[in-house]
Amino acid sequence: MKNIFFSTALALLVASAALAHNGVKNAAVMTRMNAMSGIGAEMKTLGKMAKGAAAFDANTAKTAAAVIAKHAANTPALFEAQEDDPKSEATAMIWTNFADFTEKAAAMETVALGLSKSISTPDDLGAALKALGDTCKACHTGYRQKR
Ligand code: HEC
Repeated sequence: MKNIFFSTALALLVASAALAHNGVKNAAVMTRMNAMSGIGAEMKTLGKMAKGAAAFDANTAKTAAAVIAKHAANTPALFEAQEDDPKSEATAMIWTNFADFTEKAAAMETVALGLSKSISTPDDLGAALKALGDTCKACHTGYRQKR
């Protein structure tokens, strides 16, 4: 029973993710896009609290940072193989500079991991978002080309 519920929930999850990335055919590209979207969702959680659109909760904020750190740790593995898709926004430079790409992922992990321990008041959120946002920008500049 539990298994049936789990696989149904999973199917729904995968379906909605697929919808969000309409037209992506390469499964590896889809996986890395979903991971990036996951990072974006956690940033949104932090952003809502920072704006006061959601009540501040230190544990929720810390968890959001921890989830970003986890995604960051997985990032090099998700991008290691040079997979492409017409819908992908990844630039070919990733694979000519993979050591640098890996460093940029590690920088995001370090910042996110630190925040997953340190966020304790609403006043921490602004600096947290800035620090994290800088790590996104450092990698997206050069390695992500919006289409
Ligand atoms: C180590 C490099 C790197 C870092 C760090 C990084 N990204 Fe990305 N991100 C990428 C690449 C490359 C793509 C394009 C992937 C593709 O389309 O194949 C991307 C795509 C995205 C997307 C679009 C996903 C989709 O649905 O197509 C979002 C959202 C995103 N990143 C958010 C973030 C946020 C927020 C951060 C920082 C907290 C971040 N990223 C940090 C490399 C990075």
